[in-house]
Amino acid sequence: MRNKIVAGNWKMNGSLALNEALLKGVVSGTAGLEGVTCVVCSPFPYLFQLQGELSGTHVFSGAQNLSQYDKGAYTGEVSASMLRDFGLTYVIIGHSERRAIFGETSVTVAEKFKAAVDAGLVPILCVGESLAEREAGITEKVVGEQLDAVTGYVGAEALAHSVIAYEPVWAIGTGRTATPEQAQEVHAFLRNRIASLNAEVAAKISILYGGSVKASNAEELFAMPDIDGGLIGGASLVSGEFNEICRAAAR
Ligand code: 13P
Repeated sequence: MRNKIVAGNWKMNGSLALNEALLKGVVSGTAGLEGVTCVVCSPFPYLFQLQGELSGTHVFSGAQNLSQYDKGAYTGEVSASMLRDFGLTYVIIGHSERRAIFGETSVTVAEKFKAAVDAGLVPILCVGESLAEREAGITEKVVGEQLDAVTGYVGAEALAHSVIAYEPVWAIGTGRTATPEQAQEVHAFLRNRIASLNAEVAAKISILYGGSVKASNAEELFAMPDIDGGLIGGASLVSGEFNEICRAAAR
């Protein structure tokens, strides 16, 4: 039995007032759910608020990015050890928005992944193809290379305490969800690729789907054998929606 995880990625959204209502809604609305780990990943300035609202509850806190460097003259960066110091558990690594808008390469993503693991954080490694890549029939090549860049750098064993998120770029924020079959195909491919390196790690690792997941489509996605939960953008900003998605992943 793999751990089911539903993680909210707030992206660059929120305010003190909105977050308070949202976090309280998530804590109360997901209380007592079994068989699912609920996570909220906020912008850096609001992590203190997550700590206040979520510590002592069943909901975990996460960040959306970190620096590949540990400390020093890196203005504007936040290190893995700082996040750990702050009591965080999860961190999203290599989101397609970071790759596409902020120029993160596969090498940077691998270095960030290693920084997270070394600090004792649980990285949520994002991989996914663009629409052009899917239409060109190179989805597996693209996500395979994104995965290989990390396993080649840290080794498959380092994946034992991590999570993968398959997020097709064409499904992010577009309302166009991958079908359960489309997602399952890529999830199975990723798991097999990890299994070729370490079967035990592959069997245990949670692979989440992300891209226009909503309360109305979560259940059919999570019913697929290799989909172990979701990484949720827009729908994580509405507690009722997010709670329903968590419920769909629960036993
Ligand atoms: P949406 O759920 O808004 O499509 O975003 C998905 C995502 O990018 C989560 O990381």
